[in-house]
Amino acid sequence: MQSQAHTYKPAARFLHWSMALLVLATIPAGAIMIQDGISRSLQNTLFIFHKNVGVLLLLLIVVRLAYRLRNPPPPEPAHLAEWQVTVAGAVHWALYGLLFLMPLSGYVRVRAGGFPIEALDALGVPALVPRSDALANFAKATHFWCSWAIAALVALHIAAALQHAVLKKDGVFQRMWPGRA
Ligand code: HEM
Repeated sequence: MQSQAHTYKPAARFLHWSMALLVLATIPAGAIMIQDGISRSLQNTLFIFHKNVGVLLLLLIVVRLAYRLRNPPPPEPAHLAEWQVTVAGAVHWALYGLLFLMPLSGYVRVRAGGFPIEALDALGVPALVPRSDALANFAKATHFWCSWAIAALVALHIAAALQHAVLKKDGVFQRMWPGRA
């Protein structure tokens, strides 16, 4: 058992798991919606889902980064080797960076391309970037390359978490699991 000082606070865990669920839905939606051969209606549905959930993720990562900077995580468990702490920290900050860059580049790709983002349009939020094919293409390439990086880092992150939860059973996974005081 770990004391409260060694677990993440409820707000940190809520942000972590809500974003995890949304990202794990957004990545496959993005990969499937650009495939040739899927029906037009499925493609439209996935695009609408992807763009609008992606914008929600952009808002959530801003809140999460602000929260993280004001609320340092609990100290690392003493049994972890120094290299493990260093690698985990690097992966976490790379994930924060990609979780900001992914939705930002997606937003710029869509708005600079002159396309709708249904929820923002319904709320009357205007496009914040000018219409520009060059900007849209740059953002599209950024979004594409970052999608491979975030998929690889998410896989690494999940593998490490499962290793702690299933093989080591050392309490590291429980620090972030919901429901702990
Ligand atoms: C964390 C948030 C996001 C993740 C993880 C994500 C992930 C992905 C992935 C994996 C793809 C397929 C990439 C490829 O193989 O070409 C993709 C494509 C795409 N995404 Fe996102 N995305 C996110 C946010 C957004 C947002 C906020 C928008 C727009 C508002 C957006 C718009 C698009 C568009 C338009 C494509 C198709 C790219 C193209 O061919 O033009 N994405 N996204």
